[in-house]
This record gives sequence, structure tokens and C-alpha cells, in this order.
Amino acid sequence: MYHSKITGLGYYVPDHVVTNDDLSKIIDTNDEWIQERTGIQERRHIIPGQDTTTSMGVKAATIAIERSGVAKEDIDFVVFATLSPDYYFPGPGVLVQRDLGLRTVGALDVRNQCSGFVYALSVADQYIKTGMYKNVLVIGSEVQSTGLDMTTRGRGVSVIFGDGAGAAVLSREEDVTKGILSTHLHSEGLHAEELIVKAPGMGGRWVTDILEDKNPDDESYFPYMNGQFVFKHAVVRFAEVINEGLEANNLKVDDIDMLIPHQANLRISQFIQKKFGLKDEQVHNNVMKFGNTTAASIPIALTEAWEQGKIKSGDTVVLAAFGSGFTWASAIIKW
Ligand code: COA
Repeated sequence: MYHSKITGLGYYVPDHVVTNDDLSKIIDTNDEWIQERTGIQERRHIIPGQDTTTSMGVKAATIAIERSGVAKEDIDFVVFATLSPDYYFPGPGVLVQRDLGLRTVGALDVRNQCSGFVYALSVADQYIKTGMYKNVLVIGSEVQSTGLDMTTRGRGVSVIFGDGAGAAVLSREEDVTKGILSTHLHSEGLHAEELIVKAPGMGGRWVTDILEDKNPDDESYFPYMNGQFVFKHAVVRFAEVINEGLEANNLKVDDIDMLIPHQANLRISQFIQKKFGLKDEQVHNNVMKFGNTTAASIPIALTEAWEQGKIKSGDTVVLAAFGSGFTWASAIIKW
């Protein structure tokens, strides 16, 4: 058995900054409401035609690969997490294989929303552990902005989300005291409809149904979120899955050097920080400037924390996520 370790990290966000004041010009909202509830000050939106989920993923991956020192020819597999693929099918994994000019390696798409990156990391980790692959490229990327209801009707959701991408190269580590120590994945489909984009779906309404109906009140193709319900579950599941990871490795809260929570909402991160008694420098948050970028949020935050020198060799790093599904997950990493 091997371990896997992160050998390269990268992120990319579009240049176009959308502040809370910008949003308040098109929908009935305001900076105070958004900051008080979520901590978000601004987020990035793509310029349509300039960036896509895949192109941002490719940009983040290019940086991660360069930093890893792994040659493109030596990437053995791609795992791509997103809820906002360029096409309904095929998924963006194969587009990354094409656009990065990789060998005809396998490419897998993961659809676990805000937990997507940790799920993707877990998948990559298993392949490396068993010895099947040596280097796996893991990407989380999202274009949320083009799918949001940018009217007052959608304000409870639309102010929260942003666009961006993050990537990691996972490579074989012979020393099993280092790298990814364990990952922990959960789901509770009972609450699938509490945070959802319902249409288009083969099981419900397809595009032709939506076009035929011409119903201006149809919200089925916009994200729906039962905000308070999601919040209540998030704080419980985050804590559970962090504790599960610590216990699995005989670690204590004191052993955490850096917690990278999925950047859903600053209030959720602060709640977790307080619950675990962590200091500010032990938790990295950037939701203030990027909003919630779903599957991209953890790799963007992880890259940023690493770039800022907040993660050093030997550190215990904890990743934790919760989101639509519901799904939740954690990863415990010895850097
Ligand atoms: N600007 C101004 N007012 C807004 C608004 C906005 N962007 N969005 C909603 N409101 C209004 C509502 O219409 C409502 O008005 P009313 O009382 O007159 O009906 C009021 O604000 C309160 O709405 P509510 O939805 O109850 O707010 P909240 O305190 O629950 O905050 C969230 C909403 C979304 C910020 C909060 O529920 C949350 O953070 N949930 C977790 C979301 C999350 O993290 N999701 C991602 C998980 S991966």
C-alpha cells in the first residue's frame, strides 16, 4: 500500500469582480444584508465566451502540474468535480484530457457539489494507494453565475455563489506516515431537494418541456436552497466529519495546524472554528472575496493558504465540506 500526497496546487478565478453594491444595482439586496448573513463582500463572475468550467479548470491544473514537477505525460488519470459542466454530456474530465494534451488516460467526473473536491480527492487517493496510478490530476471548477436567477426572486441564492477553479496533483508517496491519511465520505439523500437545481432532468422536466410551457414563473432551472435548513445541517455535519477524521487517525483537535472548510458562508466557518476552539490562523477563509465556488472552494482556499506560507511540511491539514445531496466529507492530510 502507498499513500498519496499533494505535489502541486493551483487556482484560477476570472478577473471580473462583482461587489455586493454591483448586485444591489440589479436586484433588491444590499451590502449590509449580504455581509451580515454570509461575510461575502465580492465574488468573481466569468465573462461569457471568455471562460468556462473546463477552461478555468485547465488554467488551475496547468499551474498545479507545473508546481508539482510532474510531466504532463506522467499524469495517469483525471478526476473532475463540478455541478456546472460545459455540456450536459460529456463531462469536463475528457475536455481536460484534450485541452491539456494528456495521454488518453481515464477521466472521471464527480457530481457531489460542495463536497465534490473532497470526494474527488478520495477517489484519486484510492487509485494511488492501490498502486494503480502514480499521478492523478484532481480539479474542482464551477461557473455558477450564468445559471443563477439574477432577479430579486433569486436573491437568497444568487448573492452567495461565485465562479472559479482549483486543482491539485496527487502523487505516490512511499512513506505511509505522510500525505493523505484518510478520507471520510457521507450522504443523506433524504434532503436532496433542499438544495437543488431540478431541471433539466431526464426524470422530470426536460428542456423541451420548459420551452413548451413558456412559464415565466418557472423556477425549476434555477438553484433552490432552503437556507436555514442547510445551515443547521451544515454545522452539525462539518463537526461530525472533522471529528470522525481525527478519531480515525488518533488525532486531537490540538493536532490541527490548518482547517480548510468548504467556503459556504463565513458564519458557518466561524461556528466551526468556535466549536473546535481554533485560532484565526488555524482556519483559512476566503469566502469574503470569492463567495461560494462549490467544488472549487476547497482547492482555491488550500492553494491560497499554501501560497501564503500558512501550510508547512509536517503540518496536519484538515479539509471539510458539506453541501447539496446532502453530502459531506473530510480529508486528513499530513503535509
Ligand atoms: N438581500 C436582502 N434580503 C434578502 C436577501 C438578499 N440577498 N435574500 C433573502 N432576503 C430576505 C428574505 O426575503 C427574507 O425577507 P422576509 O423576512 O421579509 O421574508 C429575509 O431576508 C430573511 O430571509 P432568510 O432566507 O430567512 O435569511 P437567512 O437569515 O436564513 O439567511 C442565508 C439566508 C442563505 C444567508 C442563510 O440561510 C445561509 O447562509 N444558509 C446556508 C447556506 C449555505 O451555506 N449554502 C451552501 C451550502 S454548501
